[in-house]
Amino acid sequence: MTALLDASGVSVAFSGILALDDVSVSVQAGERVGLIGPNGAGKTTLFNCLLGILRPDSGRVTLNGVDVGGWPVHRRARAGMGRTFQRVELFSDTTVREHLLIAERVRNGTGAFWKDLVGLGRPRPEEVAASEEVLELLGIAELAAKPVESLSLGQSRLVEVGRALMTGPQILLLDEPSSGLDRDETQALAATLRAVQDSKGYAVLLVEHDVSLVADFTERAYVLDSGALIAGGATGDVLADPAVRRAYLGSFEVS
Ligand SMILES: Nc1ncnc2c1ncn2[C@@H]1O[C@H](COP(=O)(O)OP(=O)(O)O)[C@@H](O)[C@H]1O
Ligand SMILES: [Mg+2]
Repeated sequence: MTALLDASGVSVAFSGILALDDVSVSVQAGERVGLIGPNGAGKTTLFNCLLGILRPDSGRVTLNGVDVGGWPVHRRARAGMGRTFQRVELFSDTTVREHLLIAERVRNGTGAFWKDLVGLGRPRPEEVAASEEVLELLGIAELAAKPVESLSLGQSRLVEVGRALMTGPQILLLDEPSSGLDRDETQALAATLRAVQDSKGYAVLLVEHDVSLVADFTERAYVLDSGALIAGGATGDVLADPAVRRAYLGSFEVS
């Protein structure tokens, strides 16, 4: 079966230091896959190679079997790769709903700038309906008219996920969505991601330092350590692997 998203033999060096050494990962349609590893393991570097933010020195990235190595970020996005930004990037003076509408317009190529929303043409009814649906799905419909500046970090993360969903992805890639969130907020995020994934069925690649979200949410996981893959398989097996535990220096417990 052709993988939805596949990276094979990806290597990246920064100033002669290997950040990724011949790394291969793949995600099938509808699958929930985790990518974990200690800080500096190369997770974000791989994430950036998948999305086209960074070109690997060697290796291949394919989407539905098509080599996307030469494609820029926006082309990969239009082809079905949604992602959340690690840093929350919200424009001040806009509401949650407007944020989602901006994403929709960027995807459709009907206006790349948020000013288009304020000035030229009002959002069409179907655009508004799409944003309402996403907010419902995320359980934050009541935030639609709130200014984004007034949101908590946990709520902002959900809006970021919402923004990615507006592009109708086949796969959603998340880089450390739990960073800065407390335990309750992380659990709420996991529950929301699960509910959304159940209803939409798209694949998810969850990149995390924190293993609890990966343990809760994913069915399969890869482990990076110092730029090399040291494990891959069913999430429960991977987290029980002594080599993985050593890489984390016993810094987490799996119940
Ligand atoms: N733009 C860059 N320039 C130089 N070194 C980098 C750059 N980005 C990442 N690195 C280095 O590559 C390694 C992997 O980093 P990263 O992919 O951010 O790890 P992770 O996301 O797993 O914490 C680290 O040693 C980091 O310092
Ligand atoms: Mg990172």
